[in-house]
Amino acid sequence: MSNVIKKGLLGIVVDETEISKVMPEINSLTYRGYSAQDLCAACKFEEVAYLILNKDLPNSIQLKKFEKEERDNRGLTKNLYEIIKHMPKKSHPMDVARTAVSVMGLEDKETSNSSPEANLRKAIRIFSKTPTALAAFYRIRKGQKLIKPNKNLSFSENFFYMCFGKVPQKEIVKAFDVSLILYAEHSFNVSTFTARTITSSLSDIHGAITGAIASLKGPLHGGANEEVMHMMKKIKKPENALKWIKNALSKKQVVMGFGHRVYKSGDSRVPTMREYFAKVAKIKKNKNYEKIYDIIEKTMIKEKNIYPNIDFPTGPTYHLMGFDTDFFTPIFVTSRIIGWSAHIMEQHAANKLIRPLAKYKGNKYRQVIQLNQR
Ligand code: ACO
Repeated sequence: MSNVIKKGLLGIVVDETEISKVMPEINSLTYRGYSAQDLCAACKFEEVAYLILNKDLPNSIQLKKFEKEERDNRGLTKNLYEIIKHMPKKSHPMDVARTAVSVMGLEDKETSNSSPEANLRKAIRIFSKTPTALAAFYRIRKGQKLIKPNKNLSFSENFFYMCFGKVPQKEIVKAFDVSLILYAEHSFNVSTFTARTITSSLSDIHGAITGAIASLKGPLHGGANEEVMHMMKKIKKPENALKWIKNALSKKQVVMGFGHRVYKSGDSRVPTMREYFAKVAKIKKNKNYEKIYDIIEKTMIKEKNIYPNIDFPTGPTYHLMGFDTDFFTPIFVTSRIIGWSAHIMEQHAANKLIRPLAKYKGNKYRQVIQLNQR
């Protein structure tokens, strides 16, 4: 057994997956063999969700059935609405999402059934209900009246509707849909690996997704899209951007929304999201953040050769859409539930307990001294 420590499991291949891959030959993230960019151009989010969960794109009958199941399951129990109502208003919505999924596990009639069929049904229920729980908290903490889900609306439209009481123009909905497609899956990232690790003890899907949400919250992972916006708000105006970034780099600060464990010369999802960020900025007649974006990006590449990741364009895009900054990572959750669920099912299908080793560097053997003699 090798004693070489690979901190952060850097470069370690721990298992096989059929779900996604960054294909160098097309320089793109692919889901089940399809490039994420092509999917953004040709599909709506629900089709991609179906693809990731079911291994192939749906035909129109399959899509209709999937959409019906997603729409029929959006409602929360009275109990869960009550719990959300009683959550501290200052809670981070990621903690709300984590708690809500955990409660869904208490309420789900199939919690202890981890068969592939039950897991797929539960995955869709978690996928359908989590946006409703988040939107409920979005409004409750502002003292606004709850808006129940609307079955006539798509996944993205319904999220806007439940948060704001209206659906924006279709270009904005498309930009949101694209962000969800790009966020849906990314192989063995931290939160997915967390979900797989929890699953490897044969625990249940609600527990695995609860753990994955906690993992995604961190600023080195999903939490970065919120940090990007905090940074942009601090910078305020394009005139301040160069000075700000040079100062940050001189202090060796980590600049949020840049760098990636897998992509070292650019995140393949960024150009697509950048394009939709520009579309939203144009509709909103606000180019301020785009200008800041360009200056920071240019300087990071020039000075550090570090490229933006997906969180860099999604942060300001969600801001322009009107979402509160602390809802950016929860939006990521609503999409990544799909990737996590596919991985949980894949782990169950060929499970091996995940249990690495550590090189011990603590005390040598010591004898216990009785309390009255210490
Ligand atoms: N800003 C400044 N320097 C950076 C950044 C950054 N964002 N990212 C990497 N570097 C530097 C590191 O300081 C390090 O320099 P050194 O070799 O001189 O010490 C070098 O680049 C390598 O970086 P690591 O942190 O070792 O790379 P790793 O693969 O472990 O980390 C990570 C990747 C955590 C994403 C890192 O780039 C980072 O902290 N980025 C900012 C947070 C962020 O945007 N996270 C979102 C990732 S995408 C997602 O989860 C959806």
